[in-house]
Amino acid sequence: MTEYHCHILPGIDDGAKDVETSLAMIEMMKEQGVDRIVATPHFYAHREKSVAEFLKKRQAAFEMIKDKAAIKDIRLGAEVAIENGISELPDIEKLAVEGTRLILLELPYREYVKWMSEEIYNVAVEYKLKVILAHVHRYLEYYSKDEMTGILSTNSIMQINNEAFLSWKEKKLAKSVIADEREFVFGSDAHNTSDRKPNWDLLKKKVKAEIIDHSDEVVERYV
Ligand SMILES: [Fe+2]
Repeated sequence: MTEYHCHILPGIDDGAKDVETSLAMIEMMKEQGVDRIVATPHFYAHREKSVAEFLKKRQAAFEMIKDKAAIKDIRLGAEVAIENGISELPDIEKLAVEGTRLILLELPYREYVKWMSEEIYNVAVEYKLKVILAHVHRYLEYYSKDEMTGILSTNSIMQINNEAFLSWKEKKLAKSVIADEREFVFGSDAHNTSDRKPNWDLLKKKVKAEIIDHSDEVVERYV
């Protein structure tokens, strides 16, 4: 299986706090059947000096684990918070998942404003990237039904967190995304080995193998 959203890199965000945690998270993923990881540390434009500085930090964090990690196929990406003007940030396109045209964007946790869709559209069109919208079910509590429909109708890949299948409301949304034959990918959004740990066992229980296969194939479609 391919993990599309997780915070396994040590000491770079609110995910793995050290190398030991990072390696333990990767080990858990391996035991659960993951064989490819897209590492997506948080990127907040207003907190970072520049994309280049962030990429340096990310590389340094990766170097600390890469020889010891139980899973060898680790691609570096980011979970980029959509802020007003983010599409004009220099080098934003370098936050795409290494070797692909995929970029993971996270919407703000607040009521919907029109510029959010414009930023998604601009990132995709200006840089010829394919946007993945992070944990799309999480916005249900902030957006109206129409706003949710608007977000779901953007030409993006919908990322679903595995734990969405534990909530009646979020599961309903996840199932409609899958049934609509939209492109979708799964992720654990794991941050640690305790309360936000890798949870691929859960997904395997809740979703048919062929549906997980659809998610796994996406990374190859956008090289
Ligand atoms: Fe995340």
